[in-house]
Amino acid sequence: MDKLNEFTQRNDSGQWSASNAQAGVEGSAQAHAQAGAQSSAQAHAQSSAQANSMIRDIGLAGAGNLKIDWVAAHMPLLNQVRAQFERERPFAGKRVAICLHLEAKTAYLALTIQAGGAQVAVAASNPLSTQDDVVAALVDRGVTAFAWHGATDEEYHTHLNRLLDFHPDAIIDDGGDLVATLHRDRPAQTTEIIGGCEETTTGILRLKAMEAEGSLRFPMMAVNDAYCKYLFDNRYGTGQSVWDGIMRTTNLVVAGKTAVVVGYGWCGKGVAMRAKGLGARVVVCEVDPIRALEAMMDGFSVMPIVEAAKVGDFFVTVTGNRDCITRPAFEVMKDGAVLANAGHFDVEISKPDLHALATDVRTVRSNVEEFRFRDGRRVYLLADGRLVNLASGDGHPVEVMDMTFALQALGLRQIVEHQYAPGVHTIPKELDETVARMRLAAWGVEIDALSAGQRTYLTSWHSD
Ligand SMILES: NC(=O)c1ccc[n+]([C@@H]2O[C@H](COP(=O)([O-])OP(=O)(O)OC[C@H]3O[C@@H](n4cnc5c(N)ncnc54)[C@H](O)[C@@H]3O)[C@@H](O)[C@H]2O)c1
Repeated sequence: MDKLNEFTQRNDSGQWSASNAQAGVEGSAQAHAQAGAQSSAQAHAQSSAQANSMIRDIGLAGAGNLKIDWVAAHMPLLNQVRAQFERERPFAGKRVAICLHLEAKTAYLALTIQAGGAQVAVAASNPLSTQDDVVAALVDRGVTAFAWHGATDEEYHTHLNRLLDFHPDAIIDDGGDLVATLHRDRPAQTTEIIGGCEETTTGILRLKAMEAEGSLRFPMMAVNDAYCKYLFDNRYGTGQSVWDGIMRTTNLVVAGKTAVVVGYGWCGKGVAMRAKGLGARVVVCEVDPIRALEAMMDGFSVMPIVEAAKVGDFFVTVTGNRDCITRPAFEVMKDGAVLANAGHFDVEISKPDLHALATDVRTVRSNVEEFRFRDGRRVYLLADGRLVNLASGDGHPVEVMDMTFALQALGLRQIVEHQYAPGVHTIPKELDETVARMRLAAWGVEIDALSAGQRTYLTSWHSD
């Protein structure tokens, strides 16, 4: 873990920053020696990416590059990791396939892995969250891409298969579709995979199901289960970005209204907390008695969804489960209710039930579909029931994804450099703590350390 410790050493000015990180690397003799070889490799990667990619329009690269530059300037942790990767090239000679929401922060993760010596290819984990300009910029920077915004189900599967035709040695997945496609449709290829990382709760549930039935053929790092992921990304990231997505899509006020949050897990806690901060009355629906109790003691009303349906103005599902809002709830909803999903798949709000009940369906604003029922009531579904913060927004705030993607990059290095057995593995605690220390250092925050006496006291059964 020594390599990790260097991230927590401050530089002379006591600051972490993108420019400092890059200056450190660019100033080193080793970096200069590598520069020539890397620029010709970069030119080769660029022409290969342009020849092999399936994207909407390479002409959009200028706008995408600006978006990537903006996030790069606000991701000090990933810049630290990138600087280390440029020096040490942990992925030299490796092919890495990434299946994530393709927006600027993810693009910067892909470029960080590329800076570590890998050939990188990407596909989208969700067709509605893909930003075509960012994808074009990635291709412009030598990453092969198979994605466009609004891909049909068939195109989505074609993109995943083209990504696997790239024959990766390592993968980063979000939601488990890439791993599932490999095991279901291309089992022979699973022996080529050293390992990978999984981003989200739903993906880890699927991996654990595969592990339990003995079918998972390679090691996967459960990035979501690291403290520095779910405590911050799921809670504060989803909390902020879900309301950002809903507000920018509807332009409606939240204060004074009732927000129903279905699922009080790590994401749901953030969504409920931010709804309260915006001035909404918050109702939580749960199936887990402990989490329901937690919601009560956090000051929220708790009730079944059919009761909540009668009082809600905004509904946000964030469970990772299917059919959480269905016909009985739609039948009693108020006219004008807004429905949004933040769980991984678009199965939490029943679209089949909405279509069965509606006499008229029309798009009334970008990303807003109106369902008019027989009795004249209307409900509004945002972003086709897909992750509202990504399909109707830019996803989590940059600084939050900086932590998650630092974990992703370091987790991938960990799995590539150490021999893990097939199965689901947790991010080592030291690595998790390193990312927390990097984030604190980036904000200039210092904390106390245990004294030797305190350490002994905490590990002893004597009371003196
Ligand atoms: N939108 C995003 O950017 C984003 C970010 C991270 C995770 N996710 C996704 O959000 C989902 C939730 O993630 P999490 O980390 O909060 O999971 P979690 O396991 O911590 O919480 C899910 C909660 O939903 C509850 N639940 C399950 N079925 C329910 C039902 N029918 N009605 C009410 N409650 C129900 C569970 O009891 C649990 O408390 C997953 O699909 C995850 O992949 C989305």
